[in-house]
Formats: sequence, structure tokens, C-alpha cells
Amino acid sequence: MSEPRKILVTSALPYANGSIHLGHMLEYIQTDMWVRFQKHRGNQCIYVCADDAHGSAIMLRAEKEGITPEQLIANVQAEHSADFADFLVDFDNFHSTHAEENRELSSQIYLKLRDAGHIATRSITQYFDPEKKMFLADRFIKGTCPKCGTEDQYGDNCEKCGATYAPTDLKDPKSAISGATPVLKDSQHFFFKLPDFQAMLQTWTRSGTLQDAVANKIAEWLDAGLQQWDISRDAPYFGFEIPDEPGKYFYVWLDAPIGYMASFKNLCNRTPELDFDAFWGKDSTAELYHFIGKDIVNFHALFWPAMLEGAGYRKPTGINVHGYLTVNGQKMSKSRGTFIKARTYLDHLSPEYLRYYYAAKLGRGVDDLDLNLEDFVQKVNSDLVGKVVNIASRCAGFINKGNAGVMVDTNAAPELTEAFLAAAPGIADAYEARDFARAMREIMGLADRANAWIADKAPWSLNKQEGKQDEVQAICATGVNLFRQLVIFLKPVLPLLAADAEAFLNVAPLTWNDHATLLSNHQLNEFKPLMTRIDPVKVQAMTDASKEDLTASQTDTGDAAPAGNGELAKDPLSPEIEFDTFAAVDLRVALIVKAEHVEGADKLLRLTLDIGDEQRNVFSGIKSAYPDPSKLNGRLTMMIANLKPRKMKFGISEGMVMAAGPGGEEIYLLSPDSGAKPGQRIK
Ligand code: MSP
Ligand code: ZN
Repeated sequence: MSEPRKILVTSALPYANGSIHLGHMLEYIQTDMWVRFQKHRGNQCIYVCADDAHGSAIMLRAEKEGITPEQLIANVQAEHSADFADFLVDFDNFHSTHAEENRELSSQIYLKLRDAGHIATRSITQYFDPEKKMFLADRFIKGTCPKCGTEDQYGDNCEKCGATYAPTDLKDPKSAISGATPVLKDSQHFFFKLPDFQAMLQTWTRSGTLQDAVANKIAEWLDAGLQQWDISRDAPYFGFEIPDEPGKYFYVWLDAPIGYMASFKNLCNRTPELDFDAFWGKDSTAELYHFIGKDIVNFHALFWPAMLEGAGYRKPTGINVHGYLTVNGQKMSKSRGTFIKARTYLDHLSPEYLRYYYAAKLGRGVDDLDLNLEDFVQKVNSDLVGKVVNIASRCAGFINKGNAGVMVDTNAAPELTEAFLAAAPGIADAYEARDFARAMREIMGLADRANAWIADKAPWSLNKQEGKQDEVQAICATGVNLFRQLVIFLKPVLPLLAADAEAFLNVAPLTWNDHATLLSNHQLNEFKPLMTRIDPVKVQAMTDASKEDLTASQTDTGDAAPAGNGELAKDPLSPEIEFDTFAAVDLRVALIVKAEHVEGADKLLRLTLDIGDEQRNVFSGIKSAYPDPSKLNGRLTMMIANLKPRKMKFGISEGMVMAAGPGGEEIYLLSPDSGAKPGQRIK
């Protein structure tokens, strides 16, 4: 046997100003399954997390609720902890970034960076709310768009015309917090000199630490050149004061990843056999993995390794990035009831259904994952209830009645138990590689074989025949052994099912290596149904409840952040395509000759488009944003000209126009610069 590995694992720290939803759960469930797999295999694996408790969003929300930030984050921590526990996410520690360990580590890391010359200071001019006496992030400034004159637009872009600008360009700016007119004010800021680490990052990001798609994205940022990162914010701010700089605070994203260390440190402080330096020291031989979503890659694959390197710590072994959750093929939506909080789910359904569904769909890429609620019901019912649990329920009764619950020692299907044994390394490899979907496919393939074998042997018919009792017992004992092997393989995903199965099997908690042995001459306990089918009515009840119980759940901090390198907007990574795939799309400049309502259609407009030497008829679902279609007449836009014509209820659509935005009133038709001519190809 090889030495057990020492592994430290984290999930991103959820913001302490909102509830956990099923999108978050995609991350915590997958991390938990991987950690449980490592423990199951006998490795030392420690899983830490914390609430991300700092920032102005949290400060402002507490103020609104009339409580202190400390009270707010304590309430939220209790709520988050309960949500995670009930989804069977088994942290070794769930801490908070607003904790003494984190203050110490953040100060110490900052001082090491400063003393090594990696911190710069310079003055920055920003809008300041003279009433609230605070600097304002772009999101907290509203005013009139300098381009189209629409009122009440945010400080960085206009929702009406799509223009982007600096907050100082807004006409008639107002603080969104107090309504006061902001004034420009200078302030000294502190910067982390990220460019000092360009060479290290170039190597580190290409050394197997990242999935290819992520490494490629990072390479783009590295090629564009790194910039210094603003790590300070002015008071009032809920966070840690910077050492030797009264009134200056660490920006939340500086101390958030240090929160991983702090949570581990807090665990070490009450676990004598755990040694902090063995995991974080420069010469650590332990493995360190961060599981994160694709929106926070820059913080984890650029700033964080650079901070660790600069402060004399080890760097992560891997950053494991996942895509975003969609529900029924679309972004989670409050009005559709698909913005589902963890608690709302738990009020209606068992956590293991979702754990299995996520496992069955999670590969190792950064693609988004769709929770299709119909498919969810169908897949869980057919795989878990119909295949896995079915094996035990088909066999248990005969053993109970026919042999007082004792499994005989005959193996009626040695070729099958051999096949299960032979499949184990492949399943383990899939788990190790975080290819949970492959692991589940292989396990369900085995379950299919076991079910087919039992169906073929039909113990229920044999049992009615004279003199076949020994055969029935041999078949059913074998069936229970096959079931036991499946449970061992599924245990990281389904810990509750495994615990119930262990009770029925009358065995100690199963570990991975137990799959190589079989039970014989073994007394079972009474069989109780291990899992029930999902009733679609409950899924409906969950989405109905989601429509009602929503308050905004924020995913960004709204800190007064002068945009700098790396403070990139949440920029989803799509799967890469080959150049040829792109080149096959014929994009053209199109003149909207006429835009009109379509009789009987509530979403569509009919567009007559001129693309140079021909006219096209295109139906487009943009009516909600352009209630008066005639305004579009004469405007240039872009269209996909070689899309296969599509027959629709109202006629044939011969192409597609291009627009951006989430939908509803927020749909923005794309336009070329003036000068472009209808029919010109876009390259
Ligand atoms: N507080 C930061 C992380 C700091 S880590 C040092 C943060 N918090 S968050 O609450 O917005 O997100 C926590 C994690 O959940 C992130 O990894 C994020 O990508 C993930 N997800 C949030 N919404 C998600 C989906 N809809 N789908 C999948 N993952 C999602 O970012
Ligand atoms: Zn505008």
C-alpha cells in the first residue's frame, strides 16, 4: 500500500450577505463528494471553508436592517452552516473571514509583501458621498447617461443605449445610497505589484495546476500584461485595518483567500495533531486544492499564487474550476421560480437526489451544468430507485423469510463479482479526476448488469418451485453482495443511503477497499426501504415556493473599486471552439428596412432586413425591449446570414439578428459603427 496522501481542500467562501442557492450548492456538493472520496480511500483529507464577511455591501445591508455587521454575519453564518449540513456537506471547519486568525495572517502576509517591495502607493480620484462620508463604487452612483440622456443610469454603463463610461462622465450624478451629489476627492491607495510575479505566473499557470480552458484564458490576461491591484479601501469599511495605515482597510478580496488559511489555522488550534506549516509552509509536501466557479478565476489563479509566493508560502497544487448552474436551460430566474434557495429545496426534497443529479452531470470541464427539473426526476427515479435500491429490495425478502436473514456463502455469479472488482480502478480514476459523470455512468452500468442477471435468474419464480430453495438463497446473497459493492462505489455521493445500507447489511462503516471482499454466512438486519421516488408534485411545490420567498441574493461586493487589471467583470468562460467553427458563421451587417408587430405573437417582431443584394425576413424575440418597433426602422444591426431557415408559426425566419442582455426590457440590439454598409461581412 502506498502512503496516505495529505490533502487540504477548500470551496470558495460564500458572501455573508445572502442565502445559499442551488448554484452555490453545485460547488459545495462537488467539493464534498471529492473530499469524501479521498477519505473513503484512506487519505488524510481536510476540507475547510468560511463565510466571506467583509466589504461595503455587508456593511450597508447591516445598516439597512438596523443591526451591526457582526450581528448580520453571525446570523448568516448560522443559516449557511445549517444549509450545508443538511446538504450533507461535511466541512472539517466552517469559519469566518472576520476572525482573529484571519486578521493576523492578513497583516503578516501584507507586511511580508510590503517589506519585500511588492506594495506601491498612489493617489486616486473618486466620487465621494459628502453625506455618508464614503467613497462610492461605480454601482453606487447614478445619473444621466452622457450619450443618450437616459436618467437614472449606473456609474459605469447605460442600460438603455449600452454606452460604457467612467462615473465622472455621468451628468447630474447622485449617490445611490444617500441621494447626495457626490464630489470628487483624492485618496491614497495601496497596490499589490502583480507584475513582479509575471514570470512565476507564466510557469505556474502552465504546470498542470489549471484545466486547459482556464489556462488559456489566463494566458490571454498574462499576454495583455498584468497591472497593479488596488488592495485598499477607505473608511468606513467593514474589514481589517491595514497595519501602520489608520483609516485604510484591506479590500475584501485581499483577506478572503487568506480566509482559507485562517480557517485551517483555527482548526489546527484545536487539533493538536494538525501542523499548520506542514500544509502551508514553503516546503510542504501536502496537496492543496481550491474548488471555485469560473467567475473568480483571476483572484485564484493570479493574485492568490502571487501573494503566497511573495509572502513565502507554498502555492496551490490545483485550482479546480466549474461552470455555472442553469435551471431548465436558462439562468436561474426569480419569476420562473428557478432561483431556488438551498433551504427551499430542502423543505421539499431529499439532499441526496440533488447530490446524485449533480454527480451524474459533472465532468471535469468548465461548462455550465443544467438542472433540468423533468430530467432530474426521471434520472433519480430510474437510476437510484429503479436500479440501485431495487437490487436490495428484490433480494432481501427471500433471505429474511427463507433463511432467517442470513446470507449463504455461495457466490452464484463469480463472473459478475469479478467484473465489479475489475471496474473499481476505473471508477476511482474518474472520481480522482473529478469526472463524476463518468464514475456514475460506470456504476450504473454495473447496476444494469446486476439487475439483468437477477431478472434472468428470477428468484421469485424459482421460489415457487420445489427443491430450488438453495438456489434462491445463493442468488439473493449474491444480489445483496453486488448491491453492497455498488453502495461502496456510491458512498461519496450518497452518504445517507450508504449509512442506511450499512444498517441493513449489519456492517461497520464501509470504506473503498471493502469492495474487494464479499459477505458470506452473514446475518442481515431487517430491510427498510432505502429511498423513495421523487414525486413531481414536490418539485412543483419547490418552484412555487421559490417564486414567493425571494429576496435578492448578491454575488458581488459592490466595493468602491477603481477598475484595475484583474478586477475583471464576471466573465464566463465558454468552451473553446476551433477557428473553423467560427469562420463557418456568416455574419453580416444588416439594415432594418422595416420592423413590425406580428399578429398574435407576444414576443416576436418581424424584421425586413437588407443585406446588400437581398432582403431577408427574420422573426426576432425582442418585442419586450422595443415596444415601438418603428423606432428600429433604418437602423443597422448584425445578423447571422447563413442560419438554416426555420419554419415558425408565423412564417419562415431566414436568419438571426444579434442582441445582448438578460431579456425583458434589457435587450440591446448590436450595431456596427457608422460607415458600415449593409451586406458587409463581419470578421
Ligand atoms: N466571496 C467570493 C469568494 C471568495 S473565495 C476566497 C464569492 N462568493 S459567492 O457567494 O458569490 O460565490 C461562492 C461560490 O459559488 C463561487 O465559487 C461561485 O462561482 C459559486 N457560484 C455562485 N453562483 C453560482 C452558480 N449559479 N452556479 C455555479 N456556481 C456558482 O464569489
Ligand atoms: Zn445611454
